[in-house]
Amino acid sequence: MRIVVLTGAGVSAESGVPTFRDADGLWEGHRVEDVATPEGYDADPGLVHAFYDARRAALADVAPNPAHLALGRLEAVLGHDLTIVTQNVDDLHERGGAHHVLHMHGELLSAWCRACGHRFRWEGTLADRPACPGCGVSELRPDIVWFGEMPYEMDRISAAIAEADLFVSIGTSGAVYPAAGFVIEARARGIRSLEINLEPSEGTHWFDEARHGKAGDLVPRWVDEVLGRL
Ligand code: OAD
Ligand code: ZN
Repeated sequence: MRIVVLTGAGVSAESGVPTFRDADGLWEGHRVEDVATPEGYDADPGLVHAFYDARRAALADVAPNPAHLALGRLEAVLGHDLTIVTQNVDDLHERGGAHHVLHMHGELLSAWCRACGHRFRWEGTLADRPACPGCGVSELRPDIVWFGEMPYEMDRISAAIAEADLFVSIGTSGAVYPAAGFVIEARARGIRSLEINLEPSEGTHWFDEARHGKAGDLVPRWVDEVLGRL
């Protein structure tokens, strides 16, 4: 049984990480163009660094919830037959026990040097413009995929979908491509699909089955079903 799971902000909501498009969403008070585009960064790097430094620091105050832990349990049994693809830039899947996670939108705990191109695990701040551990130049930026930039791992994600028996989307509004199109790719290949989300996503009609409710309730239940059928 090969499974591809795509997660979005909704999987981390019960851990206290704000989602993007809900009422109290993260963008409130900030225009997307200011904090999530290369142009915004060039215009005001200090603002952008402060924004991501605050989000990175906030990771210390959150913990994985039952949905992350259930996916960790599933990976422990399925191993490489499970591919977790996340749009989230937090590290809650890893802390929930999953080790092979494709972060298609980058990671808060990573910094990318604009001078030498290398990436480094990064737990501190960037607003103080620290020197790159590789080349010494102070050109580190958050390793986050901004609007207008190419998401990471697209080849591995497409290959995993092509070989999957089941595609599951958890906690994502289906508003941002290419992730929102993975279900269409799965469908075109005749692969079954399941949506787990608080409410119907924008692409809910593409899924063979949809379950609506909290990820913290529904994901452990679904994982138990899968493990029970093995
Ligand atoms: P959104 O904020 O667009 O959507 C979150 C979805 O999770 C919504 O459909 C909610 O209904 C649902 N949700 C909220 N709480 C939930 C819960 N407890 N259980 C289950 N579902 C819940 O977030 P994403 O779809 O992840 O990109 O957004 C996609 C991308 O847009 C992000 O990765 C980010 C943003 O621009 C980048 O930063 C590049
Ligand atoms: Zn460098």
